[in-house]
Amino acid sequence: MTTSRTRLFCLLGDPVDHSISPQIFTRAFEACGMDAAYLAFRVPGSSLGKAIAGLRALGVAGCNVTVPHKIAVMSHLDSLDRAAMEIGAANVIKMENGMAVGYNTDGDGALMALRRSDLSGKVVALVGYGGAARGVAYAIASSKDPGEVVISGRDRAKAESLAQRLASLFAVKSRSVSIEGLKEAAPDVLVNATPLGMKPWVDKSPVDADVLRAGMVVFDLVYNPTETRLIKEARAIGCTTIGGLDMLVGQAAAAFEIWTGERAPLEEMEKAASEAVAKGGAGE
Ligand SMILES: NC(=O)c1ccc[n+]([C@@H]2O[C@H](COP(=O)([O-])OP(=O)(O)OC[C@H]3O[C@@H](n4cnc5c(N)ncnc54)[C@H](OP(=O)(O)O)[C@@H]3O)[C@@H](O)[C@H]2O)c1
Repeated sequence: MTTSRTRLFCLLGDPVDHSISPQIFTRAFEACGMDAAYLAFRVPGSSLGKAIAGLRALGVAGCNVTVPHKIAVMSHLDSLDRAAMEIGAANVIKMENGMAVGYNTDGDGALMALRRSDLSGKVVALVGYGGAARGVAYAIASSKDPGEVVISGRDRAKAESLAQRLASLFAVKSRSVSIEGLKEAAPDVLVNATPLGMKPWVDKSPVDADVLRAGMVVFDLVYNPTETRLIKEARAIGCTTIGGLDMLVGQAAAAFEIWTGERAPLEEMEKAASEAVAKGGAGE
């Protein structure tokens, strides 16, 4: 039940009708007994500035930002935390005394998903160089002591640009390879940070199956379907597989803690996410 003091949180994206964030956050607020509500708003790019002004005018407490606004939203904010600034994308906004402050919690989510994987000295390859890839790559480079971070994708120049930025920001060896060059790079850990595997690309994998080796860790950011083609092929070969749902819940938990200053009810959020996906929800 809402009251006249209910704090409103929301999601801005386009599209948003597949999002399971309302289920995850509603459960979290209920579990903590908070008088708060969460709504998803579909906002086209041309209205993003007006939407942020609306958040300020209405006193909305905070919001998540999803595809395609994570980069564009930054120009509408008053300040950015260090991770958002370094990554060059914001997926969380907290309204603080009328000021909109941007954060990036994708990296926190990735670290949570990878919490059981020792990446120390390992070759970690990411396919993709977009907003999520940057968050994941920065988190791995800054916290997981990898031997090398390899960036790959269909545009080699964009992959190289992220590799160079990683090498300049962190004491990490980093380079780009073409998709065809991935097999030779012999990654110990492979991360899919492209939408390949989700609708409408459910029959696609970001890499040929011959890149996969038994014992490799394969982390797919796509979580709906939870069993992507990549995850199925990797499991069949004997890889350790990690789906995107752990990261989704991890980045949501980090957002909850930024907004409320309280510890996130992780188990409840995980349950809400699994139930929502089982019922056919699909996205951030
Ligand atoms: N599990 C989670 O919590 C979580 C969080 C964030 C994102 N994600 C998922 O991660 C994926 C990427 O999200 P994002 O925010 O990084 O999006 P983004 O900023 O739009 O980046 C997309 C990346 O995928 C590449 N790509 C797009 N379409 C492709 C195609 N048809 N073939 C090959 N590469 C393609 C893009 O390369 P080009 O520039 O060459 O197009 C870019 O590198 C999405 O599936 C999203 O749902 C999951």
